[in-house]
Amino acid sequence: MKFIVLTLFENMFYEFMNTSMIKRALEKEKASIKILDIRKFTKDKHHRTDFPPYGGGNGMIMSCEPLAGAIDEALEMLAKDQKEVKILYLSPRGKVLNDSMAHEIANSDKNYILLCGHYEGIDERIIEEYQIEEISIGNYVLTGGELASQVFMDCVIRLLPGVLADGSLTEESHTNGLLEYPQYTKPYEFRGKKVPDILLSGNHQKIAEYRQQESIRITKKYRPDLLEKKDK
Ligand SMILES: C[S@@+](CC[C@H](N)C(=O)[O-])C[C@H]1O[C@@H](n2cnc3c(N)ncnc32)[C@H](O)[C@@H]1O
Repeated sequence: MKFIVLTLFENMFYEFMNTSMIKRALEKEKASIKILDIRKFTKDKHHRTDFPPYGGGNGMIMSCEPLAGAIDEALEMLAKDQKEVKILYLSPRGKVLNDSMAHEIANSDKNYILLCGHYEGIDERIIEEYQIEEISIGNYVLTGGELASQVFMDCVIRLLPGVLADGSLTEESHTNGLLEYPQYTKPYEFRGKKVPDILLSGNHQKIAEYRQQESIRITKKYRPDLLEKKDK
């Protein structure tokens, strides 16, 4: 799966692409990420990419020309793959990303262009022109789409086949509508608190039953709304 990210802040991606699971997935060629600097596509003599909004108001709006130039370049880069390409704009008004959307995207066999807004956002005509879908990472407003695009890529790439060890996804929070059971590691005793004995019993069936009960208890405690949805 290929991702091309369109941004004014390329440097925000260096650490992301060179750390932990993302770094390994890119090295193993399970996914690829290319960053395009929107500023390179401006025709303004001062290299400006944003201007005040028509009609007045706060802040600056990213203008059409550089955005269109960057999108066209990304589409051209992906054309040789002959795969469907989806253009997504990370936006607070988009559909809020969740686990089932992440699974759907990971299974989609498409390539993705991720458009990161900044300032007060982007000129509306770009969304219409390219029929862009909008994705939000939550009901709050970020300074830019860069972190949102990283959240998006992180939760999708870890679901791609061969990225994580077999089995490590099946019991994770949200996968089956429940939160994960509590986890423990060494030392056995920390400040008088011991690891539950059942986890040292070696009885895999009993451990699985215990973890399932704990999953339900934790979900009831932290996110009872998930259990209500599961019952429907
Ligand atoms: C300061 S925000 C612009 C907010 C816009 N004026 C509004 O009220 O909807 C700048 C950029 O951050 C990104 N962004 C902000 N909040 C986001 C969210 N919850 N999810 C995804 N992207 C977000 C978008 O790309 C947006 O263009």
